[in-house]
Amino acid sequence: MRAAISIGCGLLLAALWAVPPMVANAAGDAAGSALLAEQCAGCHNLTGPAPDTVQAVRARKGPDLFYAGDKYRAEWLTEWLQKPTRIRPGGAFYGDHIVPSQATDKWDQIDTASLPDHPALSAPDARAVSAALMANTPYAERIATVTVEPVSLPIFMGDMLFDKFKGCIACHQSGKDYGGFSGPELYTAADRLNPRFIYSYMQNPQAWDPKIWMPNMNLAAADLNKLVRYLQMIAEEE
Ligand code: HEC
Ligand code: HEC
Repeated sequence: MRAAISIGCGLLLAALWAVPPMVANAAGDAAGSALLAEQCAGCHNLTGPAPDTVQAVRARKGPDLFYAGDKYRAEWLTEWLQKPTRIRPGGAFYGDHIVPSQATDKWDQIDTASLPDHPALSAPDARAVSAALMANTPYAERIATVTVEPVSLPIFMGDMLFDKFKGCIACHQSGKDYGGFSGPELYTAADRLNPRFIYSYMQNPQAWDPKIWMPNMNLAAADLNKLVRYLQMIAEEE
């Protein structure tokens, strides 16, 4: 940072030098926090705690962001805020947007016209908001205790585990147009999420979101490591 600056304009350097770095960061965070309060708080829980009734989960207008720093990859967050794409095929609560499957269809249908586009931010605003969000780490200790062990896994074994043995496919897409709609698409999960969060969430979804409808499957460490690896493989494939 300092090296890069010193190549640049001397006046700017002098100006920056006068401001201690801590204060500069705090100012950046303050801008991001202000944007969050103005433009995001209406749909997202920024302070916690997570909803503690099923009704409150269903009424949620967007995913909880109060533990964003424990959950996301910062680079992804900054990019996505500028060009948001759909992550939950059925929106915040799929039940509001689903057309039940006909006897002949494999999956339910989504009424995509009923799903609004997500607001987009300019690059500087996205950077400020992303920095402010990434500072929210109430579960840093939980994340720090997670160790993801690297494993090698043939893709067909991953498919079997995800589709057949554990039934994740009922709620999650493992490829475009392949899988259920009641959970977030997972072929982008490794791009979006901290691997330790992925592991921890699969291990105990209710520790993150007490009333969420993803079941706790009491997955063993070996399966958790395989599933983290599998999500990386399908993200590389897409
Ligand atoms: C009108 C309601 C609404 C507003 C306003 C809104 N969001 Fe969202 N947001 C949503 C919904 C709904 C989703 C889920 C979209 C999906 O999964 O496809 C979402 C998803 C997200 C996600 C991805 C979450 C995840 O874990 O998958 C982030 C990050 C996010 N919003 C940040 C923001 C920020 C920052 C702002 C303010 C600049 C904002 N949102 C404003 C409704 C909103
Ligand atoms: C009954 C439906 C259901 C099943 C079965 C299910 N999940 Fe989920 N899963 C969900 C829901 C709902 C969420 C969180 C929704 C949200 O945050 O909006 C979720 C979240 C996740 C997340 C975090 C994703 C993100 O973008 O925040 C991961 C990773 C995940 N599930 C993996 C799995 C795996 C692996 C399996 C199989 C072992 C599985 N899930 C089985 C419904 C399910």
